Formats: sequence, C-alpha cells, structure tokens
Amino acid sequence: MQHPDLCIAGAGIIGLSLALELHHRGYRVTVLDKGEALAESSSAAAGMLAAHDPDNPPQLLPLASLSLSLYPHFLDRIHALSEIRVPFQTHTTLQSVPSHIAGTGSELTVKDLSHLLPALVPGEHQFILLDEHSIDPRQLASALLAAVRATTIDLQPNTPVLSTRSIGDAVEISTSSGSMQAAKFINCAGAWAAVSSHQLTISITPKKGQMLSVVLPPILPMHFVVRTPDIYIVPRTTGPSAGRAIIGATVEDIGFDKIIHPADIDHLRSLATTLLPILAGARQLEAWSGLRPATPDGLPVLGALPAQPNHFIATGHYRNGILLAPATAKVMAQLIVGEASAIELSSFSPTRFSSELTSP
Ligand code: GLY
Repeated sequence: MQHPDLCIAGAGIIGLSLALELHHRGYRVTVLDKGEALAESSSAAAGMLAAHDPDNPPQLLPLASLSLSLYPHFLDRIHALSEIRVPFQTHTTLQSVPSHIAGTGSELTVKDLSHLLPALVPGEHQFILLDEHSIDPRQLASALLAAVRATTIDLQPNTPVLSTRSIGDAVEISTSSGSMQAAKFINCAGAWAAVSSHQLTISITPKKGQMLSVVLPPILPMHFVVRTPDIYIVPRTTGPSAGRAIIGATVEDIGFDKIIHPADIDHLRSLATTLLPILAGARQLEAWSGLRPATPDGLPVLGALPAQPNHFIATGHYRNGILLAPATAKVMAQLIVGEASAIELSSFSPTRFSSELTSP
C-alpha cells in the first residue's frame, strides 16, 4: 500500500500545478488520471490569460488578478525544473465591447484599428485595447509535464479513481489498479469532477468547445488577439506553431461529446473572416475540441468538502483554466496545509449550491 501525503485526482493543468506547489512545500504527492496527463481541456485551450474579459463573472477578478501576478513565477518554476521556457505569445488583445461600455476613454477608433491591423473590419463592434498575454497551452503542457517528471511527484496515468472514503485521519482511494491511502485527497478532475452524495451535490457540466487553427497569410502581421463575444483569433508568434492562428470556439452543452462537426468549424471560420477578411483563404491545419468544466454560476469550486474529512476539490474553471492555474495551486495549497488563503474564497465555496449547507 502506498502512503503519499496528498493524492490528487486529475493530471490537467490544475492538478499538476497544485502538485508542483505542494511538492515545493515538501509534501509527497501522487497524481492519478483516468487517461494521459494534460490530454483534455488543458491542451485544447487557446491560452488567453483573459482576466479582464468583460464576459467573465465579476467575482472571478480577485482570483484572476492573483493568478496573473503569479504567472511569471509559475513559468520560472516550470523552467527551472524542466529547462523549457514557455514564452508569452502575445501581449495585447483587441476586445470588442458593447457600445455602452465603449466611449469611456480606452476604445480605439476604426482609424486606429486600421493602423494596427489593416485587414480588420470592426463592423458593429467597438474595441478596447487590453494589456493581456497569451501562451501556447501545448507548449505549457510539455513543459509542465517535464517539470513534474523532474520531481518525485508520482504521476500515474490511466488510473481512474473509483471511490474514496475517509478513514480516521486519512483517505482511502480505490483505483482501477488497487487501493491506496493518503492524508488528504484533492479532486481536480475537471469536467469529470462532479460530486453527488447524500451530503453534497456539485454539478460540473462539460461545455464543449470546437476550434481550429489556420496558417496566417504572410502579409498579415498579427501579434495580438482579437476577441468578440462570439469569436476569438489567437496568433502564435513564436515556437513550433509560429505563423498560425487559433480560431475558437463553440460553447455547447451536449455532454461528454468531442466530435468535430465540419459545419461548426466552417461557422467559426466565417465569423473570423467577418472580422479579418484576409483569413478567407487561410489554409486550415487542424480542428479539435475540448470539454470545459462548468458550474451553474460559471465560477470555480475551491475548498474542503463538508462531511468528508480530508477531501478537497478544485474544479469548475470553465473558460479560464490556463489563466487560473497558478492562483488555484496557491490558494488550494494554503487551504490544504491550514494557512489563511491569499484571497477571500467564499464565491468559490463547494457548499454554495446546497442551500441546507449554506444557510446560517
Ligand atoms: N478560453 C477560451 C474558451 O473557453 O473558448
């Protein structure tokens, strides 16, 4: 029987970032995954660190801001362990905003936009310029995995967790390849992290996103993200994918279905081409999909589970898992070791969907 201090279910960006943070604090960590590490939404993401996307719920901002502030250190730690430097791909985002928000001083005029990007056709959109970074999640996934493998973290792919139960001061974890005990168990299983027991229900819905990549025309010098509520275009400017752009994404509520539909990909292309007509003939390279873990209020679930001693959960990052990983790792590590959290976490309480548990 193995006895790590901490057992994490889910080797996505949330689970592995938390594993690194806990390992850094001196704990023995095991990470179990039902499949391969970083194979789901962590690699499907576009990689925008969109803390100031006006479509984010306002309660997300403190966690998002903390995570942005931690990002350089997070990438430095991964670099130190893996010897792989993950660069920022872009530093600016043109964000479309409703006209009642535009006009507050930071919006660009059509003339300004045409100076920045000759092919952009704003149409009914008004844009603001955000100081926002993006990274390539596939680069991050390679580096993060190499970083984890450079430590004593015990990563066990293809090992689904079947059940858990508290026994005294420990948790017994039953997996497809036997049982183990850990002092604490953390559910970071993304879209697969739903909790349903007679004490507590946490509904996590997979929200499918289809997307594609295209080769950017050489005459289009695109070094920034363009985003409207319906579409985003995210260029890769450096590394193996330099010269291509990611176009996304659908948001679909159809269960654990990752099938790519050419009609949906064509629709994304046509929305992108409305903004950037020069993309009309761009050669398509790939199409893929991922399953975002969504809660009923669109906010993550971060904390200890009531009535299940030594059980924790960190999921529900929906459209912002890449952005929120460093802060999630920090605040979850603080909760797990009994420190005060760097930010107020009540908006992310695991009990907020259970009226009998939240009422005074
Ligand atoms: N974060 C991008 C998306 O959810 O499509």
